[in-house]
Parts: sequence; structure tokens; C-alpha cells
Amino acid sequence: MAAGASGVIGPGTTAVVTGGSSGIGAATATELARRGAGVVVVGRDGRALGDVAVPLGGRVCVADLAEPEAADRVAGEAGDVDLLVCNAGVGWAGRFAEMPPEDIDRLVRVNLLSVLHLVRAVLPGMLRRGHGHVVLVSSIAGCMGVAEEAAYSASKAGLHVLAGSLRHEVAGRGVGVTVVFPGVVDTAFFDRRGAPYPRRRPRPVPAERVARALVAGVERRRAEVFVPGWLRLPARLRGLAPGPVDALQRHFG
Ligand SMILES: NC(=O)c1ccc[n+]([C@@H]2O[C@H](COP(=O)([O-])OP(=O)(O)OC[C@H]3O[C@@H](n4cnc5c(N)ncnc54)[C@H](OP(=O)(O)O)[C@@H]3O)[C@@H](O)[C@H]2O)c1
Repeated sequence: MAAGASGVIGPGTTAVVTGGSSGIGAATATELARRGAGVVVVGRDGRALGDVAVPLGGRVCVADLAEPEAADRVAGEAGDVDLLVCNAGVGWAGRFAEMPPEDIDRLVRVNLLSVLHLVRAVLPGMLRRGHGHVVLVSSIAGCMGVAEEAAYSASKAGLHVLAGSLRHEVAGRGVGVTVVFPGVVDTAFFDRRGAPYPRRRPRPVPAERVARALVAGVERRRAEVFVPGWLRLPARLRGLAPGPVDALQRHFG
């Protein structure tokens, strides 16, 4: 059986999913394996990675992406990569003026710097083969800017713009780039950052919904995927009318 419509997901293809030990990454690895891709799940927690990868017939790569040498090691262990899903990420909640400098550094290293290095390590092979796809998991916070998530929002905005730049660079060379903007997703993310999701609405969506939308976005070669889809509207409106949309955002959260 050949790889599916995208050519990057299916039997004989290799998909690397960072943050594959939990939440959106684990759901994405499962969705990709269901379509026949060989998955390599990356994270720090070897046991949790094994719990995801073993039932899928996938591989585990234990790496702390905050470490400078991790990206090259992950790329080396993975071999030829058809699909790279940069999904690992951490949050931090609170007033930016009170954020410890070392937390800023770590957040940016994991959410942005490691992505730059991993894409830089994997992309040349994709371009040589004229085939591949890169997915960056950003956040609606990276489109709008969210109070008390300033460093997080900035790191996710960086991914948004990185995807735009890469798309221009790889145009016509057989490599696709998709950026995914989840809203609020029901995962361990909020517990891990030490601050629960503070609002009742929008209601968190399941990680599996994000995973399905991500995979469909790759198969359809979409530039951007919003989950839920209605989030596209405030994101677009903010570009057109930042003042009124910021006022609405302050009112409704
Ligand atoms: N949940 C939401 O509401 C939401 C909304 C928008 C965007 N997102 C984004 O979606 C992505 C996935 O988050 P999630 O909601 O699925 O949260 P999650 O369940 O906490 O998953 C985060 C993943 O990132 C990995 N990770 C964290 N630090 C790492 C490091 N230093 N090195 C390697 N891996 C690391 C974790 O693996 P280990 O613990 O094994 O290292 C884990 O697999 C993140 O980028 C997040 O910003 C989430």
C-alpha cells in the first residue's frame, strides 16, 4: 500500500513527533500510525514515550529539547524523515514582570529555539529528496497575545512567523509547511505549567480532535489549521482591526 494523498503519511513513511509522550503529540502519533506511518516519538519521559510508541510499533527517542545538542541527535536517530511534527511545548502563567529570567530562557528554548534547530537539522534531507512536510504546533495565543501568558504567546508567535518564512523558502521544492493553532485543549498542559485553565469558555477540546485536524491539514497541504475552526475568525479579525478585537478580548477573555 502506498503513502496517502500527501505522500508523507502512510506505509513506508517516517513521522517524528516531538512531545509524543502526552496530550496532542501522543494523539497525533496514534493518528499517524493508524494511517500506516512509522512514528518516532520524542520527549524526556522514556516510560511514557514507550507507552505511546510500543502499541503503535513505533520508536522512542528520549531527548530534552531544551539541551542545545538535542536537535541534531533526534534528527540523526530518526533517519530520513517524511513528516516532522514540532509539538513539544511548555507553558508559564502569571504576570510577565514577575516571570523569573530562567523560566523565560527555558520556555523559549523548548518552544522556539529547539524548533528552529530541529527544522534546520531535518529540512536539508527533505529538500534533497524533494519530499517532506513540517508541522509547527503554535497556539491561538501566538495569534492574539494572551494576558499572563506573554512569553508563551511570544514563543508561539515565533512559530507562526517561522512557518510563513519557511513556506516561502521551500515553495516548489516538494516540501510543505503547516502551522496548527489550537485553542484550549484538554491535556496535562495546564497542570504542568502549575496554573489551571481559568475560564469556562471556550470549552477545552479533546487532543484527538487536534490530532485529526493536524493530519487532515497535512494531507490537504493546508498552510494553517485552527482547532476549533471558528478561532480562524478572531485571528483574522485581529489582523484587520486590532483595537476593537483587543477590547473584546479584554472583555471576554
Ligand atoms: N493544551 C492546550 O490548551 C494547548 C493549546 C494550544 C497549544 N498547545 C500546544 O500544544 C503542544 C502540546 O501540548 P499538550 O497540550 O499536548 O501538553 P502536554 O500534554 O503537557 O504535552 C507537552 C509535551 O511536550 C513535551 N516536552 C515538554 N518539555 C520538553 C522538553 N524539554 N524536551 C522534550 N519534550 C518536552 C512533553 O514530553 P516529556 O514530558 O516527555 O518531556 C509532552 O509530551 C504544546 O506545544 C502546547 O504549547 C496546547
